[in-house]
Amino acid sequence: MTATNKKIAPMKGILLSGGSGTRLHPMTLASSKQLLPVYDKPMIYYPLSTLILAGIKEIMIITTPEDQPQFQRLLGSGEQFGVQFTYRIQPKPEGIAQAFHIAEDWIDGARCALVLGDNLIFADGLEHMLHDAAQRQHGATVFSYQVKDPERYGVVTFGEDGRALDIVEKPVNPPSSWAVTGLYFYDHRVCDFARKVTPSARGELEITDLNRMYLEEGTLQVDTLGRGCAWLDAGTSDSLMQAGTFVQTIQARQGLLVGSPTEAAYRMGFIGVEQLRAVGQKMSKTPLGQNLLHIASEAELSLKER
Ligand code: TTP
Repeated sequence: MTATNKKIAPMKGILLSGGSGTRLHPMTLASSKQLLPVYDKPMIYYPLSTLILAGIKEIMIITTPEDQPQFQRLLGSGEQFGVQFTYRIQPKPEGIAQAFHIAEDWIDGARCALVLGDNLIFADGLEHMLHDAAQRQHGATVFSYQVKDPERYGVVTFGEDGRALDIVEKPVNPPSSWAVTGLYFYDHRVCDFARKVTPSARGELEITDLNRMYLEEGTLQVDTLGRGCAWLDAGTSDSLMQAGTFVQTIQARQGLLVGSPTEAAYRMGFIGVEQLRAVGQKMSKTPLGQNLLHIASEAELSLKER
């Protein structure tokens, strides 16, 4: 592949869904965290919708060895969403940046996004933000969000001009309340950078170290998610409950779906209205299925009116 070809190759995406989920024991003793329900959908549907809304069609799903069959049973080949899934195993949770070691041959010099399987992002204008990040050819894009407990995350310090000056992982004394979310977009050099990441004091290949390499090179863009946005990671019983309540509230109030990969695939033109209807039909006993059928009917009506 020539350098020019590499630049125009479509972006790929990794859905990282391994980990041990110890903060959700005993619920995660016999099930993967990312298969637990967030209101009316399995948790992994939310980050999967994010990748689809970014326009990404080639997706690698990384899981633990024990959980892989359940993910395959739930998600299949990707055909139902008009995308292509590749499954890989992370034998042990040795850090988020390890995803790029596991996926290196599959990425094959393309640009690649990464989303954590327990991250839910809801924002007005999200599609535009995702589109811009996925179109960027050079450098990396991450998103940051103000939280009350930044010490649990990678934390960004911004300069007066709004540019990111530094990122530190789980600081005891956080320099700001801006946490880095679990959604990252990288250019074609990501695997070269990932190979240079060495294990941290806690023995993990930290995604913050990878992000810092782009930052030091001056090519890390940190976009901030403002007040009207929600970023939730459903890693504890409280946040799992909050995420479920959030989805229930928005869906009940607006009648719009949150985190439906089928709807996202339809909106992105990955599947047609027939397939949307077929998926809705299969789940017609649920409000989710009925909602998909409603979207299909509206689409068919507007096609007829044209
Ligand atoms: P964490 O919440 O940091 O870890 P965890 O899921 O193992 O949970 P706990 O802390 O309760 O033991 O992980 C964030 C996300 O990243 C989650 O979706 C799992 C995923 N992950 C991996 O798949 N592999 C890894 O090596 C790490 C560190 C995380």
